[in-house]
Amino acid sequence: MNSGKLIDGNAIAGKVLNEVSVQADQFSKEQGRPPGLAVVLVGEDPASSVYVRMKIRDCAKCGIESFSHKLSAETTTGQLLDLVDALNRDRQVDGLLVQLPLPGQIDTRTILDHIDPAKDVDGFHPRNVGRLVRGDGEVLVPCTPAGVMRMLDEEGVDPKGKNAVVVGRSDIVGKPMALMLLHRHATVTICHSRTTDLAAVCRSADILVAAVGRALMIKKDWVKEGAVVIDVGMNSISREEAPQLLLDDPARIADFEKKNYTLVGDVSPDAAQVASLITPVPGGVGPMTRAILMENTLKAANWRTN
Ligand code: GUN
Repeated sequence: MNSGKLIDGNAIAGKVLNEVSVQADQFSKEQGRPPGLAVVLVGEDPASSVYVRMKIRDCAKCGIESFSHKLSAETTTGQLLDLVDALNRDRQVDGLLVQLPLPGQIDTRTILDHIDPAKDVDGFHPRNVGRLVRGDGEVLVPCTPAGVMRMLDEEGVDPKGKNAVVVGRSDIVGKPMALMLLHRHATVTICHSRTTDLAAVCRSADILVAAVGRALMIKKDWVKEGAVVIDVGMNSISREEAPQLLLDDPARIADFEKKNYTLVGDVSPDAAQVASLITPVPGGVGPMTRAILMENTLKAANWRTN
């Protein structure tokens, strides 16, 4: 039995951010202003607030100007549409993202459809989704699956001819992930909550991408010997919910002592004993998502000004 090598998402994200910094600097010199990213947060969801704060910090790190807009939890669809309109028109804003999920009274689809596709750094607008489906070259694509593809490339994993299994069918991760793997010539299976014998399908994977949002759902014996495992999950669990394998890990014990929870993925960490490569949680896919957001902002800025 080999012991899976951990893919260092922080290191690869650092490399991406360095590349973005150099190019953002170049953009600023040529355009007389830095690339700009507007980030809209509606309400005070604690996880969303943390994500938005980190995105704004990433902008500062790589020479992108951020424009932060915080709206009350009672904001209406009409009010948010007005802000999106203003940001669509704002020439300093190259990228525009509205943090999801939005409060229940807001029609999310209407908002996403209203963002200028040229500024849609999340890749959620139907025009960008359609371009991804067709495999068009110049397209803004969702950050998490794009970050996963970059990790595979950096690790020398070529999806061509491989069996790739994506667990989860969300618009943000599962569906675009499957398309990107398909464009790189993998044989792709998408699984979800109604899949019959999910464990057996997972065991057929050379590349297994877990994006379901269920803590530690994918067990070690669901993973084929030598598979590449990408864990997109980010779940918070308490000491009481933690299985023994976490309670034996000094880093997890330190987490529980500091904050009474720890972040885990959708894959049980002991899957590293059978995988050839595996992403840790935290420190795997998460930093890559944020780095690709910076890359998409720079792309949008360059396309808009060329
Ligand atoms: N909420 C969770 N993931 C994302 C993301 O990638 N983009 C946006 N806008 N909101 C999210």
